[in-house]
Parts: sequence; C-alpha cells; structure tokens
Amino acid sequence: MDLHPDVTAFFDAESNTISYVVRDPASTACAVIDPVLDMDHAAGRIAHDSADRIIAHVRNAGLTLEWIIETHVHADHLSAAPYIQEKLGGQIGIGEKILVVQETFGKIFNEGTEFQRDGSQFDRLFADGDSYQIGNMQAFAMHTPGHTPACMVHVIGDASFVGDTLFMPDGGSARADFPGGDAGELYDSIQKVLALPEQMRLFMCHDYGPNGRDIRWETTVGEEKRHNIHVGGGRSREDFIAFRTKRDASLSMPKLILPSLQVNMRAGEVPRDAEGRAMLKLPINAL
Ligand SMILES: [Fe+2]
Repeated sequence: MDLHPDVTAFFDAESNTISYVVRDPASTACAVIDPVLDMDHAAGRIAHDSADRIIAHVRNAGLTLEWIIETHVHADHLSAAPYIQEKLGGQIGIGEKILVVQETFGKIFNEGTEFQRDGSQFDRLFADGDSYQIGNMQAFAMHTPGHTPACMVHVIGDASFVGDTLFMPDGGSARADFPGGDAGELYDSIQKVLALPEQMRLFMCHDYGPNGRDIRWETTVGEEKRHNIHVGGGRSREDFIAFRTKRDASLSMPKLILPSLQVNMRAGEVPRDAEGRAMLKLPINAL
C-alpha cells in the first residue's frame, strides 16, 4: 500500500468502458489496461481513435510500455491490444483460464483447428497469485472468476483494477450469465476483492452512470464494502445468487458480443477467411 502508481483513465462512451495507463512513479515504465478498439457494428468497420488517444498519452509523457493487460475476455468491446503493441511494444497478458474461454467459444463459433485453444495468442498467461514487474513496481494477478472464467483483478501497489467483478457502489456488479459465468463464483471473487485493504483504490472497467449521475470509475474497498448495492453491508451468498440470476435473465446481450468474443479470444486479432480477408461469423441461436 506504500506504492502509489499514477493512473490515467480513458473513457469510451460507445461501450462505457474505462481503459487505463498505469505508471510507475519511480521510472518511465507503464502498463495499459483494457484498451478499446472502436467498432461500428452496422458497417462492419473498425477504427483506432480510442487506441490512438492512449498511444498519444504514452508518447507525450515519454513512457515505456511494458504490459498490455486484459482483465478478461470482454464481451462488449473489441480489444486494441495488438494495435497498441505494434506501435509501442509491451507484452499482452491475460488469465490462464483463457483456455476455458477459447474451448467454449471455439465450439460456439465452430472454429477449425487453425484456432489454437492454448492461449498462445497471448505473451503471458497469469495464474492466481502470479506477480510481474512494471518498472520498479511489483504487480499481482488475482483470479476472480464468475463474470467469466478468465477474469482477474490486477493489484498494483494501492491501486487495483477490478475488471468486471465490481461496478461503482451504486452500479453493483456485472452479470454472471455468459457461457462459463457463475453467480456463486462471482460472489466469492468479490469477497476476495473486499478483503483487500480498506483504503485500496479500485478502478472499474465499466460505468453506466446509474440514475443520471456523471460517469465515475474510482472508489475504494471501504466504500464498496459499505455501500455496494449488490454485495455491500454483508449480503449473503445465497441472496446474491438469487438476485443475480433473476436480474441476468432480464438483460439483453451486449450489442458487440459476437464480434468481441471472436476477436478478444484471439488476443485482439481479427480472424481471417481462407483468402486472408478480415471476417467475422454470426452464429444463429448459439448464445
Ligand atoms: Fe466484461
């Protein structure tokens, strides 16, 4: 908790995603967390405006990019990790349970043998409790399944990047009904986050500005424990599962789920057809 990394947030209004640049205050080293690739679904068009903003920030501040971290396989936006890596370098890392996600969605998208289900598209697969360096900072990856099997929270000094385990206190928690999701596991993972020190800064991957408030992305463990509308005040596991299951049944699928999964399970690479053209599939009634 003595280590206080600099955190710069980038909000994508299309997918309500927050990406981060986390900087070691004692060097020029940094990591990018959950960068967004812009997609116009109706037109099948991708663009790099959001990623270019992050790249410009890293360059203008004279930083060295060491890591591009995915907290999980996102289902609501495409990852710009390979584009950023091409421009700035760095290793792309995700949780080792990506293999489970690749197996599940390899079937759903009827991928052939050319789609490797061994996580080899990524540079580093994190196991629960693994540590890695960002300059002089030691970072830890904590396995937090429930929303998806490969979800991880990254703890870097007094800052934790919670992915989709938690939303802001008035936003609650993420859904647990995607293939491989589990409400009970999500509850257990959230308890792991809430067991971190009270003053720990928590950075969200999403915020939807509930009840018309402005978009926010930073809170603390203490605030979540006391005020989170889904798990705060010591809500029981049983209660949470019942609530989450009922709520999830009422939610529609995110608009970019089918493109996102196909691209993100490949570490952000758009799949190609036999002639090498970038091409996505639309499986019918598969989700
Ligand atoms: Fe997510």
